[in-house]
Amino acid sequence: MIKVNSEKLFSKAKQLFPGGVNSPVRAFKSVGGTPLFIKKGDGCRIWDADGNEFIDFCCSWGPLILGHNNKQVREAIIETTSNGTSFGTPTVQENELGELILSNHRFVERIRFVSSGTEAAMSALRLARGYTGRNKVIKFEGCYHGHVDALLVEAGSGLATLGTSTSAGVPESFAQETIVLPLNDKTAVLNAIAEYKDEIACIAIEPIPANNGLLIQGREFLQFLREVCTENNILLFFDEVISGFRIGFEGAAGFYDIKPDVIAFGKVIGGGMPVGAYASSAEVMNKVSPMGPVYQAGTLSGNPVAMAAGAAALKECLTDGFYEKMESKTKLFIDKILTHTRSKGYLFNIHQMGSIFWLTFSDQVSVRKSSQIDPESMNYFTVLHKELLERGIYLGPSGFEVGFISAAHTENDLELAANAFIESLDIAFSEVKVN
Ligand SMILES: Cc1ncc(COP(=O)(O)O)c(C=O)c1O
Repeated sequence: MIKVNSEKLFSKAKQLFPGGVNSPVRAFKSVGGTPLFIKKGDGCRIWDADGNEFIDFCCSWGPLILGHNNKQVREAIIETTSNGTSFGTPTVQENELGELILSNHRFVERIRFVSSGTEAAMSALRLARGYTGRNKVIKFEGCYHGHVDALLVEAGSGLATLGTSTSAGVPESFAQETIVLPLNDKTAVLNAIAEYKDEIACIAIEPIPANNGLLIQGREFLQFLREVCTENNILLFFDEVISGFRIGFEGAAGFYDIKPDVIAFGKVIGGGMPVGAYASSAEVMNKVSPMGPVYQAGTLSGNPVAMAAGAAALKECLTDGFYEKMESKTKLFIDKILTHTRSKGYLFNIHQMGSIFWLTFSDQVSVRKSSQIDPESMNYFTVLHKELLERGIYLGPSGFEVGFISAAHTENDLELAANAFIESLDIAFSEVKVN
């Protein structure tokens, strides 16, 4: 594969941005090589600066549920921008997207738009603290909630330990307000609540954890969290930045039929434009300014162009059978690959939830905690990623990341892609030796 132009552009970018990128995982550090500069996308395909074509399973890390350059989204953006791009006033586009969401989601009554998933999670956390008058938050290992200070924290040893920050620049005193627990561990939750009962504002979880592999939890664990939160006046906070509008219109809350107290949204909600949101009952959301004492604001929040893009995308998601179709073609794609890898006896599996999938280089049927992932197994991913690029398949450049299928991936595209996966996996399993 020719990469001359991407290489030149990356050399230039390194003079401009830390590590040459504006978000770290884009730098290809975990798979090696030069990141590809993408100049165009259409449907499920992208083209790089050297003219190489790829079937894309990164889909901008999840937002592009309709694929690239979707007609409805594009037209909504063009029509809206022809009247200007930002006013700093209320606009009809905010009403339209807000109404579309609230009238099709059973678990939320009021919503506030922001501009990213990080902002949504940060604001939801502030709201939980402001509403309960408590400071501590429980989060889980392997769940990512954006680069919010209080949530960029990992556990020390032991179960109910207070966190230590995972990033320079986050004061330990902030991290100390965060209790980090293993996923799928009821005892750890009960112990933490016993110790810090009246100090905990919320339990934050990605109900479908998809940032450190796809760590699918049993419904029973989520239901248990719902119950302990209710019993202890703790808010249950679902971070649905990935799962919202992706697993179904009502995200994981709808899929499991569990009502969280606060939800953060991002990615799909903006149709590929920078949008996030947090939502809850009217009673809880009335604590947000200007109604209540929890301050949160944004110059470009509810931006009309972004709102119009989001509404155009979500209208498509609401069409009959949308999610069922996405899920069934994802299953076909996965089955084809697994039929081959099983016949070869490879230690390999693909975990799936709706149109999200994750490759594991192990035969564990269920992976529920990050500690179940052997970091060495990622050596297979490094080879796989490179071989897939050579065959015109683009996956996010990290084995801990999930892949996304969009409505624009046809069965034919997925068949081509599955064949490329099969060839690439044969190479990875013949080259890599893991003890
Ligand atoms: C579950 C979850 N929460 C929050 C975020 C942060 O969103 P953003 O990158 O838009 O700030 C992400 C991003 O991947 C996410 O997956």
